[in-house]
Amino acid sequence: MSRPRVIVTRRWPQEVEARLAEHFDVELNYEDRPLDRDALKAAFAVADAVFPTVTDTIDAEVLSAEPLRARLIGNFGVGFNNIDLDAARVRGLTVTNTPEVLTDATADLAMALLLCVARRVGEGERHLREGAWSGWRPTHMMGTQVTGKTLGLVGFGRIGQAMARRAHRGFDMAVLFFDPFPPVDEVVRELGARRCETLDALLAESDFVSLHCPATAENRHLINPERLRRMKPGAFLINTARGDVVDEAALNDALGDRLIAGAGLDVFEREPEVLPDLLARENVVLLPHLGSATRETRIAMGLKVLENAVAFFDGAEPPNRVA
Ligand code: 8YV
Repeated sequence: MSRPRVIVTRRWPQEVEARLAEHFDVELNYEDRPLDRDALKAAFAVADAVFPTVTDTIDAEVLSAEPLRARLIGNFGVGFNNIDLDAARVRGLTVTNTPEVLTDATADLAMALLLCVARRVGEGERHLREGAWSGWRPTHMMGTQVTGKTLGLVGFGRIGQAMARRAHRGFDMAVLFFDPFPPVDEVVRELGARRCETLDALLAESDFVSLHCPATAENRHLINPERLRRMKPGAFLINTARGDVVDEAALNDALGDRLIAGAGLDVFEREPEVLPDLLARENVVLLPHLGSATRETRIAMGLKVLENAVAFFDGAEPPNRVA
């Protein structure tokens, strides 16, 4: 039997690309150029499986390819807001994602953003590199203490819980969370966390608010002007989830009006565009969507896509099926 034909939309770590070639007749993207919509649509007409990333929008139009050859979308990422799952179901496609393997890397980066914005790390580094440092003095670049403060987690799934573990055990923080689908009490207790019944209650009490919820339609602009006003004046917002969970223009205004003290952002509403106003602010730390960007994690993500696809083409249930 001939091997399934697979199209990978972006460059992956080399060792995983080599593993893909052991199993599939694979078309790799050596130049790492994003596929435009026509190329993406064409991929569904000629391949048995397409392996996209967050930057590939797989909507009903892309999935309207005729004739449709593909039967599997193996998303390289845990978030799958880039894929219209209903349209995939209608066209009989199975969709998989890559949970678990990026939990620690993403929580590490969320903690890094929290520390950097509270302790003015980006600002300090710019200051020094510009040659502006005139020497140590007691009042120079005083930031905000992290240890012992209160962290509010919006979303308490795998990554939210990993963040709680770091904050509670490593930095002695009190941890609050808001999640309509909370884990069992034992998990909450073990992490020293406390559940808030409402998002507003969490926002009012937290010194740091970190977002770990999915980018569903309901969560679009969950952090809006009103919610930003409910945060403490000295509080910080951290986002390693998805850009559209936050109304970016409203966040920019809130920072300008000093409604909150700062923000650490790894994701944006219109990636790779970032509001010019945000780029000019000192009280924000901005990263180019690096949550899962460690060698170890990106290899593990690729191997997860492979594992899902091998199961699928063997006629078994893929371990991480989302549709
Ligand atoms: C990836 C992510 O960089 O997995 C996710 O949901 O946001 C990141 O780990 C990206 O999605 C790759 O497609």
